[in-house]
Amino acid sequence: MRPVLTDETSVLVLTGAGISAESGVPTFRGAGGLWEGQDVTRLASPEGFDADSQAVWRFYSERRERRCAVKPNPGHAALVALEQRLGDRFLLATQNVDGLHREAGSRRVVSIHGELMETKCERCQKPFADEKSYRGEEVPRCPDCGARLRPNIVWFGEMLDPAHLARVERFIAEAKALLFFAVGTSGAVWPAAGFVDAVRHRGGQSWLVDLQPAPDYAARFDVVLAGKSGELLPALW
Ligand code: APR
Repeated sequence: MRPVLTDETSVLVLTGAGISAESGVPTFRGAGGLWEGQDVTRLASPEGFDADSQAVWRFYSERRERRCAVKPNPGHAALVALEQRLGDRFLLATQNVDGLHREAGSRRVVSIHGELMETKCERCQKPFADEKSYRGEEVPRCPDCGARLRPNIVWFGEMLDPAHLARVERFIAEAKALLFFAVGTSGAVWPAAGFVDAVRHRGGQSWLVDLQPAPDYAARFDVVLAGKSGELLPALW
């Protein structure tokens, strides 16, 4: 089965850690995932950062160091090709913070969970590009105001950037014929997990492309393709 793409079709894509797995980036909840044996709130929440900012910076520093060794894979490239074909009738919302979509050439991309290679002052909230590791005993401080610097990541318990959500909602509302692809995500985290419901409410067709589709999430899709995104996506269009 292949998706029907007419010159009226708008495509919204949501990606998760699974699309980067073939690039060697670990997922969160699968075997060997980042959250395995970890208390996620200790490493990815404001409370965890208050309790032990050095542990949090070690966790993100290690991910930054590993990120430099990985490259986009054919799954990322397939989404770039689709964007080039559809132009403003394409939008990619990614939960990934690894920057691989942008490195592959995606431009119409909204990083709804933030960017691993960005740091921000927790007071003025302004992010800046930063690939540095912070493993010292002291938490890095903002040179302007002295507040703590933190990774520019949306942590558990924090709100997404309203502008990002508004852009996704507007895309869904303005689409004539809407097609939705969720790729490599377990659908465990909201509000991204709710995008499929907004698409269905709009009468759009929903596809899930995932190595091991999560049953509860898959049940909400019209089409479910089980397999590797790096193999399935290039064959889809
Ligand atoms: N191709 C396609 N899908 C894959 C592949 C692959 N090669 N490898 C793994 N997957 C799938 C798994 O089957 C799983 O459904 O990727 C999904 C990864 O799920 P999670 O590890 O839960 O990652 P994700 O859904 O992105 O997590 C969402 O949770 O921890 C927070 O903010 C973090 O953005 C993250 C969010």
